Amino acid sequence: MKILVTGGLGFIGSHTVVELQNEGFDVVVIDDLSNSSIEVLDGITAITGKKPEFEQIDLRDKAAVQAFFSKYNDVSGIIHFAASKAVGESVENPLLYYENNLGSLVYLLQGLQQKEKSHFIFSSSCTVYGQAEKMPITEDAPIQVAMSPYGNTKQIGEEIITDVANVSNISAILLRYFNPVGAHDSVMIGELPKGTPQNLVPFITQTAIGLREQLSVFGDDYPTPDGTCIRDYIHVVDLAKAHVTALKRLIDSKNADKVEVFNLGTGKGNSVLEVINAFEKVTGQKLNYKIVARRAGDITEAYADTAKANNVLGWKAELTMEDALASAWKWEKKVRGKE
Ligand code: UD1
Repeated sequence: MKILVTGGLGFIGSHTVVELQNEGFDVVVIDDLSNSSIEVLDGITAITGKKPEFEQIDLRDKAAVQAFFSKYNDVSGIIHFAASKAVGESVENPLLYYENNLGSLVYLLQGLQQKEKSHFIFSSSCTVYGQAEKMPITEDAPIQVAMSPYGNTKQIGEEIITDVANVSNISAILLRYFNPVGAHDSVMIGELPKGTPQNLVPFITQTAIGLREQLSVFGDDYPTPDGTCIRDYIHVVDLAKAHVTALKRLIDSKNADKVEVFNLGTGKGNSVLEVINAFEKVTGQKLNYKIVARRAGDITEAYADTAKANNVLGWKAELTMEDALASAWKWEKKVRGKE
């Protein structure tokens, strides 16, 4: 069975291509290389012994997307990662985000809609819950007004998919990720942020390796035990496996609705200081950090209620935050040629 993975050379996408190929799926990747590198194809090939098909396409190009579906008429499902994901940039340039994250989604669904039966897995985010009132966060928690155009594209994306699935042969699973971190244990693939990383773990590893002077911890006056924000850090390999589980659920028609939603996290919340301490302990590296002011738009805490993913989807995170930090560090050292 052939599966299209958009953004398949990106961080979560590449790990998912590996898991799909390990499970015997044929994969065709679309990536525009705007925030990824062609060498990732070699990493995937080295791990799995199989090179996925690859098309360099900008999904905003409607004609190119149509041509893709004519060429690959054997594609029976899509796992859609391709999107811009920098919150701050989305505030500066909202139209880039609406065009890139929503225009392409429309074209992909148009292509998929022509099929007799097709499957769609969407890369969504716990950002749709905003600051949820209750922890842990269940899938029933209310969606809150988005705090950024990026967050809004995830909410609107979910709505577009739901509207289309209701009137077509598409069945869909919306996966709301908490905080994906780590790298593949083989250190053949991992996270490759372009420019200054916005996310915590790549900033930590780049600081430890000497690429950044100091990590800024954004605020220690939050109403949490140590005053720093709490998140649910999930290993990217666990996350990738959840996509394969979700896809099989659709293929086997085990889904209870045309559109289902699952939170993907570990169920455990960790503060920024806990992440730093765990990193120092796991790697033996001292991290230069200082507490600075809060970052605009950050929420106090978010961690997943994993009951639905565990019991209905049949998936559970198996790796720990420590595993993720150790693999992220191994990866950083490899990328910088220090190992
Ligand atoms: C952010 C987005 C989220 C998006 C995700 C994608 C917000 C509010 N959320 O998640 O919607 O899906 O990125 O990548 O922007 N931190 C520091 N110093 C740093 C970096 C981060 O202290 O240099 C702290 C943050 O304040 C936060 C935690 O580390 O408490 C995690 O931050 P980050 O990795 O950026 O993820 P989120 O903000 O949770």
